[in-house]
Amino acid sequence: MALSAGNKNIKTAVFISGKGSNLKSLIKFSKLKKSPITIKMIISNNIKSKGLVFGKIYKINKKVFNFDKQEKAEKNILSILKKKNINLICLAGFMKILSKNFINNFKGQILNIHPSLLPKYKGLNTHERAIKNKDIYSGCTVHFVNSKLDSGKIINQKKVKISKKDTPQTLANKVLAQEHKLYPKAIMKIFNL
Ligand code: GRF
Repeated sequence: MALSAGNKNIKTAVFISGKGSNLKSLIKFSKLKKSPITIKMIISNNIKSKGLVFGKIYKINKKVFNFDKQEKAEKNILSILKKKNINLICLAGFMKILSKNFINNFKGQILNIHPSLLPKYKGLNTHERAIKNKDIYSGCTVHFVNSKLDSGKIINQKKVKISKKDTPQTLANKVLAQEHKLYPKAIMKIFNL
């Protein structure tokens, strides 16, 4: 990435749609001495996102945009992110697919976490599909975002063993616990830290 890290000078926006447990882990990571990022903004498409509470708790600016009018929402988000000199976007359980135009405005600066061992199981219901296929391992992946869904360059992955007793929910919980460690590691890795 054409950015240099140091003194937490990577101004980061985190996009969420739901619980925000990855957001919480990224906020905690951002406060560590070794972290290159400062989280400046939380963006959501969903006013009901439980994760928005972390904006209040940690005093981080948060904003919700209506993606029923996606073009308008993206235009407004872009203008805020540019105004705030954001140089890294972390998608963390963000359930909307960003347009090509949006992604081109932050080329090589958008990361996503996905609950499968990509390229396996792009899209939704990853845990259900892994169990149905009797896979031995599931896991999670952090990757750069390009204009194809869950297809950008992989940064890192963590395998999680699927046990015979696992349901999609128990597997999701196990994988999520690993996601919370993997995302900070991916950020360290892209800045060669
Ligand atoms: C995570 O499993 C993430 O990989 C997926 O959605 C879930 C979001 O969880 N895309 P949270 O909102 O970070 O708790």
